[in-house]
Amino acid sequence: MSLRILHFSDVHLPFPPGAFRTPAILHPKRMIALLNFKFRRRTKYRDAIQKLNGLNQLLRNEPVDYIFYTGDTLNLGLEREYTVGAPRMLETLALAKRGSLAVPGNHDIYTGASPALYGKYFAACLHSDCPDAITSTGFPLVRWVGDDAVAIAFNSARPNFAFWNSSGRVPNQELDALQSLLARPEIISRKHVFLLTHYPFDEANYLHGLRNARALLRILRPHQNLVLLHGHNHRPFTYFLPETSIPLYCAGSLSKAGGESFWHFELVGDTLNARRGVWKNARFILV
Ligand SMILES: [Fe+2]
Ligand SMILES: [Fe+2]
Repeated sequence: MSLRILHFSDVHLPFPPGAFRTPAILHPKRMIALLNFKFRRRTKYRDAIQKLNGLNQLLRNEPVDYIFYTGDTLNLGLEREYTVGAPRMLETLALAKRGSLAVPGNHDIYTGASPALYGKYFAACLHSDCPDAITSTGFPLVRWVGDDAVAIAFNSARPNFAFWNSSGRVPNQELDALQSLLARPEIISRKHVFLLTHYPFDEANYLHGLRNARALLRILRPHQNLVLLHGHNHRPFTYFLPETSIPLYCAGSLSKAGGESFWHFELVGDTLNARRGVWKNARFILV
C-alpha cells in the first residue's frame, strides 16, 4: 500500500479589507515592513488566493493522505489577517484524507501579540497523537502516518522586535521533547520520521536563519530514518544533510509569482518518491 503526502509553505495571503484599521499597525516593526511590502513584495504574492485555490483543486482531483504545512500564511500577523486567512488555510488542510500537520512561520507570529492569535485561529491544527510530549510552547505535535511513518512538527518561528532580525530559534524545551520523542520505541521503529518546521535546518544566515541549528542537528544526526521539511526560503530545493543519508526538502513558496512550488511524496514501503508541484497554465501540476 502506498501513501501520498503533500508539503507546501509560505502562501503569504494578501491583506484583507480592513486589515490596517487597528492600532496594532502602529507597531514600529509593522510600519517598516509595510513599506517593504508595498515596494518589494506585493506584486509577487498578489495572486496567492488563486494559487491556494489551485492547490485545493489539485487536492480534490488527486487526493493525498496527509498534508504538511510549514507556515507563513500571513504577512504581519494582524488579527484581521487571521480572521480571513486561517479559515482558508484550514479548508486546504482539511482536504487531506487522513490528517494534516502545520506550524507557524515568522510572518504569522510577527510581534509579541501574534502567537496568541495563532493559538486562537489555528486551534484546529494544534492537536497531537502524543499529547504527553507537548511542552508549554504548544509543540511538538505528532501525527501517525500510516503504520510505517510518523510526522513531528516543532516551532522554530518567534516574534523579533527589530525589523532587521527575522531569525528563528527552537525553544530549549522543544529540543528536549524532540530528543525524547525520537528515542521512543514506537517512533524509532517507524521507517520514516518526517520532521517539519518553518526555518531551514542550518545557521547559514545570522539574521534570517535558525540561530540554534547546530544544537538541533546534534539531536537529529544519529537518526537515519528522518525526512526534514521546511519553508521560509521562497525557493524550493532538496539535498542530503552532509555526511548523512537524511534528505531535506524546502517547499519554497506556493504563491510566489514565477516560482510557485510544493513537494508531493509517495511512500511505497521503504521508498520515498518525491515530485515537485509547479504552476503551469493557471493550474498546479506534478513534474
Ligand atoms: Fe515566507
Ligand atoms: Fe518565513
